[in-house]
Amino acid sequence: MSAKPYYITTAIDYTNAPPHIGHAYEKVLADVMARFQRLNGREVYFLTGVDQHGQKVQKSAEKVGQTPQDFVDGITQHFVSLWDKLNVRYDGWAATTDPTHKRVVQAMLQKLHDCGQLYKQAYTGFYSLRQEQFLTDKERGPDGNFGEEWGEVQELQEENWYFRLSDHVEWLKGYIQSHPDFIYPPHRANDVLNALEGTPQDLCISRPIERLSWGIPLPFDERFVNYVWFDALTNYISFAGYLAEECGNTGLPDFSKLWPSEAHVIGKDILVPAHAVYWPIMLHALGFGDDQIPRLIVHGWWNVKGAKMSKSLGNVIDPNVLAGTFTPDGLRYYLMRDIATGYDSDFSDERIIMSYNKELAGGLGNLLNRSINMAQKYRAGVLTPGDYDDDVNRALRDTVAEAVPAYMEAMNGWAIHEGIAAAWKIVSAANAYVDNTKPFSLAKDPEQAARLDSVLYHLAEAWVHISVLLNPILPTAMGVARAQIGWELPQGFQISDLKWGLLASGHQLGTPVPLFPRLEIEAE
Ligand code: MSP
Repeated sequence: MSAKPYYITTAIDYTNAPPHIGHAYEKVLADVMARFQRLNGREVYFLTGVDQHGQKVQKSAEKVGQTPQDFVDGITQHFVSLWDKLNVRYDGWAATTDPTHKRVVQAMLQKLHDCGQLYKQAYTGFYSLRQEQFLTDKERGPDGNFGEEWGEVQELQEENWYFRLSDHVEWLKGYIQSHPDFIYPPHRANDVLNALEGTPQDLCISRPIERLSWGIPLPFDERFVNYVWFDALTNYISFAGYLAEECGNTGLPDFSKLWPSEAHVIGKDILVPAHAVYWPIMLHALGFGDDQIPRLIVHGWWNVKGAKMSKSLGNVIDPNVLAGTFTPDGLRYYLMRDIATGYDSDFSDERIIMSYNKELAGGLGNLLNRSINMAQKYRAGVLTPGDYDDDVNRALRDTVAEAVPAYMEAMNGWAIHEGIAAAWKIVSAANAYVDNTKPFSLAKDPEQAARLDSVLYHLAEAWVHISVLLNPILPTAMGVARAQIGWELPQGFQISDLKWGLLASGHQLGTPVPLFPRLEIEAE
């Protein structure tokens, strides 16, 4: 095992509304990578959570007549139960109202204050209530007005605390240029460099308590609370043990072992400025070295018929409903197979039905069912590899052997859909192998007994491989498949341990049960 754990995080979700499939996609993506890295022999620490402060939450709570805490507790429950349902297995839970986090945010602010990185100033400007930020002329449309995306815009005069962001912009430009791995996919780095053009501005990091009380008070000026992004970004270090001793935080990981994160998984909308500008500069200003800057994995968006999902359009897709219809694994599979990491995709009823009925039920489930059924019928489920071999067998073994490195390369490079496709080559080849070898005919001819043994054995061995490679994506179904094969994933098993011959002669297969029963539904 490598000494440094693979530390993976996701964006923490706003708790002003329940989750939709965009949120589900991101968490499943991170969970698949966490599970893959474990099978890749890495110790993994997976952190996810909820972003509970800020104006949006305060407003949503006011609207329904609840306290902000009661309101976020209610919404948080929706997220927690969805992650539980979808088998998203995290090691740490980052809720920003957690006192552990508040102590670190305050200590971090104090540190920045003490080293002269924060200053107070009066400012008059236009403030977007929806985006919770002051707007500049850059945000004006061609007609000189602020566009609809900013919601209600008010002119405000306010004293606030500022962070000397502009002092570090040159450093950031250099860092991005000399670290092509900083952002995946790499073309997104240009978006960041473009955003850094022009005169750099400092960042307002406070909100007066009269305007926003639902936040973390600045430790050196309690008339202000911390700007929600400054608070939220800090979760990646506060729950990883940063300043734990100083803050009296216990039960957290050893920060020096965990940091930096190898993957902050985020959507493209929160790359600029939050994750690619504010966050690295915050870390740099706190004294983190260039080798201590985390890597950003930027995924695209799920849209619906080309449009953004939104409550007002009434096109929000509820992952709970989909998991109910297609099973949690069926939803995980669709969300991973129908998008390329870094690019957008369109949610479609037809595609999720097709992916379930044709691929999971017809391709994968049918292969398992027929493999075990035949072995039970002809050999009482007992495998005997024997000496028989031929080119058809060799071709299947070659397909399996080639699939593993192709899968590894794709998964290591965040191309989950290609990893699935690599594993699926075994599924398709094994289904074709049954069609070609016709075990039902071989069973009728006693002279073909050795060949039939070898066919049944090859199918079971192919299944050992499939059940490991698809485990990160379909954790429940592959556990069920292994139970039917009668093979458990040994403790500490790694993909590099996969080889032909893991099932001994005399191995007893289990009882066949349909893995993904076909659904009789049609797209609306
Ligand atoms: N709370 C902030 C993130 C703070 S991270 C320190 C936030 N929350 S969010 O709930 O709006 O979004 C959470 C994540 O879900 C983001 O990474 C966002 O990109 C992602 N998605 C939200 N809608 C999405 C889609 N329609 N499709 C894919 N992911 C999208 O931003």
